[in-house]
Order: sequence, then C-alpha cells, then structure tokens
Amino acid sequence: MNHALTRTAFAAALMLAAGGAQAADKLKVGFMLPYSGTYAALGNAIENGFKLYVAEQGGKLGGRDIEYFKVDDESNPAKAAENANRLIKRDQVDVLIGTVHSGVAMALAKAAKDADTTLIVTNAGANAITGPLCSPGIFRTSFTNWQPAYAMGPVAYGKGHKTAVTITWKYAAGDEAIGGFKEGFEKAGGKVVKELSLPFPNVEFQPLLTEIAALKPDMVFTFFAGGGAVKFVQDYHAAGLDKTIPLYGSGFLTDGTLQAQGESAQGLLTTLHYADGLNTPRDNAFRADYAKAYKAQPDVYAVQGYDAAQLMQSGLAAVKGDFGKKDDFRKAMRGATVDSPRGPFTLSAAGNPVQDIYLRRVDGLENKVVDIAVKKLADPARGCKL
Ligand code: PHB
Repeated sequence: MNHALTRTAFAAALMLAAGGAQAADKLKVGFMLPYSGTYAALGNAIENGFKLYVAEQGGKLGGRDIEYFKVDDESNPAKAAENANRLIKRDQVDVLIGTVHSGVAMALAKAAKDADTTLIVTNAGANAITGPLCSPGIFRTSFTNWQPAYAMGPVAYGKGHKTAVTITWKYAAGDEAIGGFKEGFEKAGGKVVKELSLPFPNVEFQPLLTEIAALKPDMVFTFFAGGGAVKFVQDYHAAGLDKTIPLYGSGFLTDGTLQAQGESAQGLLTTLHYADGLNTPRDNAFRADYAKAYKAQPDVYAVQGYDAAQLMQSGLAAVKGDFGKKDDFRKAMRGATVDSPRGPFTLSAAGNPVQDIYLRRVDGLENKVVDIAVKKLADPARGCKL
C-alpha cells in the first residue's frame, strides 16, 4: 500500500469526521410549500418570514446552524405524499415546515405522523390536522379554516344581514371556511340560503356571479386566496355586485393581494388573525425588518412563517439545541407563548393557535384593523384525542 496515499486518506477521513460532525450538528429544516401556481406568492412569503426570524437570531436556531431542503408542492394533493416523503425519507429532515393547501397538508400531516417527524403547519387550515389527526408532533402557527370564518358570522349579522349566499373553491379549505361562517352566522340568527362552489383552482366565476345576482341575498361570504382571490374580487366589482350585495370573507381574500386588486377591493370587510395598522412595538419592528430584507410589505403568510421559526426557537431553547430530546422539544413548543407580530398567542392542546381574530377594512393598500371580532378564539378541535 502506498503510504502517502494512506496518509492522505487518513487526513481526509479526519476532515470528513470533523466536517461530518458539523454537518450532523446542523438542523435540517424541510420546506414543503407551493412555489408555483395560484398559491406561489403565499409559499414565498412563508419562507421569507421563517428566514427573517432566523436572520434576526444570527442565522441560527437554538444555537445551531440550519440546512434547508425545499420541495415545490404545487398545491397538488395528488403529489403530496410523494413530496412529503422526499423530505422525510430522502433528506431526513428534523422538522417539516409547510404547507399552504389544505388537501396537500392532510397528506403531509399523515406522512409526518407515520414517520414521527415534527411538523409545523404554516398556513393550511384543514380542521382535521388539529382535529382527528392531531398528534404531539404536529403544530400550527396559522389557523383552522373554521377560525376566521366563524368570527365573521356574528359581525355580519350585527350589520343587519339576515340572508347570505356563500361561494368558494370546492375543497377542504373552502368547505370548512363556509362551515365556520355558517355556524357563526346561523347561531347569531342569520340563514345561509345557498352554497355555491367551483373546483380549485378555477376562476370562471361569471355563471356563479349571475346566480348571486338572481338570488339577491343580503350579503355574500367567500373564501378565496392568492391569485384566485385577486380575480374574484375584480370580477365581483366589475359585475357591479358590490353596489347592491356586500361581499365579506375570511381575510385571505385581501391579504397579499391588494396591489393587484386595487380599486376593486376598497372598503371590503374581512376577518383574520392579522391586520395592518396594529401599531404595536412588536409588529412595527417586524414590519420594518421585513420591508428592509425583502423590499416588500409582510402579509399574514409571512407572519405565519416567522412564527414557525419562533416556535422552533422556544422548543430548542428548552433542550439547549439538543434535537435528540424530541419529546422535551415538543413539550416546550406546545407550552410556548409565541410573541407574534399579530399579538402573543398560545397553542391549544391540539396544537393550534388560540388567537384574536381582527375585523379589517381595506383602505388603499392596507387591511386596516377596525376591531377585534372575537378575542382569544380557540378552534373547537373536534375529534382530537390527546
Ligand atoms: C388552505 O388550503 O387551507 C388555505 C389556502 C390558502 C389560504 C388559506 C387556507 O389563504
């Protein structure tokens, strides 16, 4: 055997061991988010928010460097299980961050639960994730689809509306948002007279707008988001419906979309767990940092990503960065109070934020806070046994 070669190989092995230990020290974070399609902007905002918090901590969480892995899930439920397993099995990430679309998130949550990989849901509101599918390793820094929509029920009824037509995409997020609104509105005394829908992510709204005009309800409640929300608000306005039948929605309808919606969105009232103009020191600092880093204003999606990193930080602080202590890490996260730009929130036993839902009104390029529609609203977590 060539001694020089052996020495070189030995030195290389030493370096590898040192480098390997360092690499093993890195926290592996897997982003499963939409980077294409109608929800692409939402996925990017979540990643930006997450990375902003990490940057504020000097590029580390729990004192550890981070290695990122990314998958574009395209908001496509058919590819969701395979995409989740790329991050879980191939990349062996420590924590999964994702996603936006409820149908995709259901498959992601099932895969995470099966593999016992910690998951922080940074948008998708699928009620089941913190309902029947709930698990000690599953967390959410966003909302359930039920939450913001339910809050609009009593607000709309309080404005004198007795009948409502609903319109949404036919998938879990739309169905559950409509369910939440209907529960809140009918409990208050109103009646949902017709539920209209079209397949995700279609935007051929005209026939349904014609039907709304014929039905003449007191109001319309809707769930749309991203690119679809832009087009829906524009079409509702272009049809002149906003002059006779006021439009309400969960706040995704006008979040991250106002630049594109322009005139058509002015005055719209929505309910959501974030708003512009909160004017708290925490939110002001976050917004200034975000604007500086990305030359753009943050939206609710950016906040949800930012808070996922904050939540991880509180878990890692409790185990001093030792990610092997999975149970303690999770327990600390479940018990954390997250100092969110939206206002501080805690997690329910099921792992979903217990949070204020704001009433907002579109004014220029802002969803200005008008009021708190419901304080500390907890999702009922129906079917969660923990
Ligand atoms: C969802 O699919 O759960 C979803 C998507 C976009 C939103 C809100 C909820 O803005």
